[in-house]
Amino acid sequence: MASLSSLFTTLPTTTSSRPPSFSKSACTSPRFKVSCNASSPDDQKDPKLTLLENVDRRNMLLGLGGLYGAANLTNIGSALAYPITAPDDVSHCVNVNVRNPVRGVACCPPASATAPKPYHLPQFSKLRIRPAAHRLTPDYVSNYKAAIAAMKALPDGHPHSWTQQAKVHCAYCNGAYSQEMNGRPDLKLQVHNSSIFFPFHRWYLYFHERILGKLIKDPTFALPYWNWDNPTGMMLPAICEEPGSDGDPRSNPTFDPYRNVKHLPPTIVDLQFNGTAESGLNCVDQMSTNLSTMYGQMVNSAKTTDAFFGTDPNPEIASKAGSIEGSVHNVVHDWVGNPRMPHGEDMGTFYSAGYDPVFYFHHSNVDRMWKIWKDLNPRRHKDPTSYDWLNASFVFYDENEELVRVYNKDCVDTRKMGYNYEPSRIPWVNSRPVPRIRASNVAARSFGDVKKAEKIEFPLKLDQIAKVLVKRPATKRSDEEKAAATEVLFLNGIKYNGERFFKLDVLVNDVDDGIETTAASSEFAGTFAQVPHNPGHEMFMTSGAQFGITELLEDIEAEDDEYVLVTLIPKAGAEGATVDEIKIELVPIG
Ligand code: C2O
Repeated sequence: MASLSSLFTTLPTTTSSRPPSFSKSACTSPRFKVSCNASSPDDQKDPKLTLLENVDRRNMLLGLGGLYGAANLTNIGSALAYPITAPDDVSHCVNVNVRNPVRGVACCPPASATAPKPYHLPQFSKLRIRPAAHRLTPDYVSNYKAAIAAMKALPDGHPHSWTQQAKVHCAYCNGAYSQEMNGRPDLKLQVHNSSIFFPFHRWYLYFHERILGKLIKDPTFALPYWNWDNPTGMMLPAICEEPGSDGDPRSNPTFDPYRNVKHLPPTIVDLQFNGTAESGLNCVDQMSTNLSTMYGQMVNSAKTTDAFFGTDPNPEIASKAGSIEGSVHNVVHDWVGNPRMPHGEDMGTFYSAGYDPVFYFHHSNVDRMWKIWKDLNPRRHKDPTSYDWLNASFVFYDENEELVRVYNKDCVDTRKMGYNYEPSRIPWVNSRPVPRIRASNVAARSFGDVKKAEKIEFPLKLDQIAKVLVKRPATKRSDEEKAAATEVLFLNGIKYNGERFFKLDVLVNDVDDGIETTAASSEFAGTFAQVPHNPGHEMFMTSGAQFGITELLEDIEAEDDEYVLVTLIPKAGAEGATVDEIKIELVPIG
């Protein structure tokens, strides 16, 4: 398409023209000095409906060949449901399939003589307060290191050992378990790319924290969180890289040898890292772009329960990742992992991620996002209420070395689980991106040059930049209409190589002018990123993405337009990737 830049007079540069919503002094503090100097200056769903959905699903299961364990379905209390259920017998776990593994692929937990017992949360008399990792007291640091050192000193086969803690992630994320409890031993159990993501990781960290507390005889011990959503916390937590008692970082128990050396402190995290190239942004712009990314994923694209959590796992339809999982969460994994390792070990791939202490700091903040999202709008931001979600269950060894079964429905309130987060400012709530060009009319100007989605033969290849005109379901929506329903751009059936880091950026009404549009601009609808799963059994995986565009269209003054121009930009791992459908729909809120 011809460059349209000549049609416009004012073209702001890549980053926002809005003053940053944080103090620029964050960039001049000694913590960030080097990198800054090196850069330019400065549901309550009707239960009947839920039941109907489950009836549908059961019919699908039966229709698709399988009475397949229909009898087994009753094992889980309802013949009509499909809640993800970890096996009762953990010895049914198998080695995972990873080519050239740097870490072990035998990820199964130690055998248990008894079936998992249902877990009951204790009554906690005092909350464990998880501190921000960049504000730790010396006492905390020495306790934390003592706890990790004690864990690392346990024999590998002990359910509390560091190795076993890491293997939990590998087992649940790389296909060590099957869905035998749902009558589908042919399907791997997977806790990513769906609404199961938040609760699984919450329980995982809960037991990890309780075990660490037990090892140092401190039941109030709480994991730190890596505060990557706040400028003052945007570096890899220093505790993980500082020298040990002998001056060598390798003797620091929270050190991990497999990290990207370019991303050690004081480098600021890039929440849009593309897997290879550094952003090149200066300190203030990097922080500002990170905050706009957070706004996009926590506000614009998180207006509904499905959008924030992702969709429930379903044996027949690929589920979708939620807004935080499919963007910032996955990108940070890749940013920390060592690109010189075969799969970006440790953090850059799921089978090994749990070997790096940073994993637990990272997931503590991901878990904090769940809490913040609910607190931001308690009336509208609700946990999922489907039968399948509430009754999904996992199996862990608890702090007493007992195998227990835990349910999603018991983890929705951190206070009942005995913990909370030390408060930290959330400057991203004021970081709404700013438009590069208002009222560009670029979609209408592209008619003839760019195909309309309804004329495209899907699947559409994603290995090069693709532009598509997508029709909106309604124009000129009133404030009341916007409050009742959010306008969402859906990318359904994204197929990508599950053995590589994949990242796709999605822009709306972006104008070709040679200037890169970053997350700081309203035109940036969002990102879909994936951490390698090394699934082994199938190289290509399917998922989907959704981006809220109501505010985006307001900002760029395109609310009257019948079509929007969608630009899909592959950033990493897109060879062979395709998408089955691109559409815009209005989705009711609350
Ligand atoms: Cu199970 Cu950060 O992933």
